[in-house]
Amino acid sequence: MNNTDKIKAAEEFIKKRVERYDSGHDWWHIDRVRRLAQHINVHEKSADPFALEISSLMHDYADSKFAGEESDKAYGDAMDFLEKNGMEEISGRVLNVMRNISFSKKNPSGDLSDPLFLIIQDADRLDAIGAIGVARAFNYGGFRNNPIWVPDNENKVPSTISHFYGKLLLLRDLMNTETGRRLAEERHTFLEVFLKQFYNEWNIK
Ligand code: ADP
Ligand code: NI
Repeated sequence: MNNTDKIKAAEEFIKKRVERYDSGHDWWHIDRVRRLAQHINVHEKSADPFALEISSLMHDYADSKFAGEESDKAYGDAMDFLEKNGMEEISGRVLNVMRNISFSKKNPSGDLSDPLFLIIQDADRLDAIGAIGVARAFNYGGFRNNPIWVPDNENKVPSTISHFYGKLLLLRDLMNTETGRRLAEERHTFLEVFLKQFYNEWNIK
């Protein structure tokens, strides 16, 4: 199997997996993260392109929101896939990316300085901000049937707008790479513009 075949196999493997996810975590999220990661690496030149592409494709394979209790099995299946398709050599690093990528991950462990991980985490976070980030947030909120926004919210009821403050507006300052920071700037500004317009419309007198 050459690298092109291995990439094709990984694409098929993840496509099948994300069919069960919400459409903010669909194949197109995976594809955007791959292209963002490649774009960052063109500037950073810190990761091996093949390992970066495979890890980008695999990054959400065992997402705990969807795998739930089964996440150990999902990690196992992912490792089996890599072994069977001649990618045993990079499987440890792919696993490291999968285990640590999530924003909500409580106790990250492993090699958090691997450029593979640093770049893919930036790519995943960039896809959560900007216009696509807004689209994904409201898509996820709709999927969970959360309120769009709760004004005068003394009881701190979660809403999609509150998710901007709990996560999205924090991501710009959490970028790992210089290129990620640069790309985050415009997307962050867009979130601020969006919120300003949102409140203007909401508070019409
Ligand atoms: P991570 O993989 O870093 O834990 P998530 O999978 O939670 O991130 O987020 C995936 C996408 O869903 C992001 O675009 C995120 O903003 C959105 N999302 C997650 N939780 C919520 C929420 N409570 N309300 C709105 N959007 C959400
Ligand atoms: Ni992701």
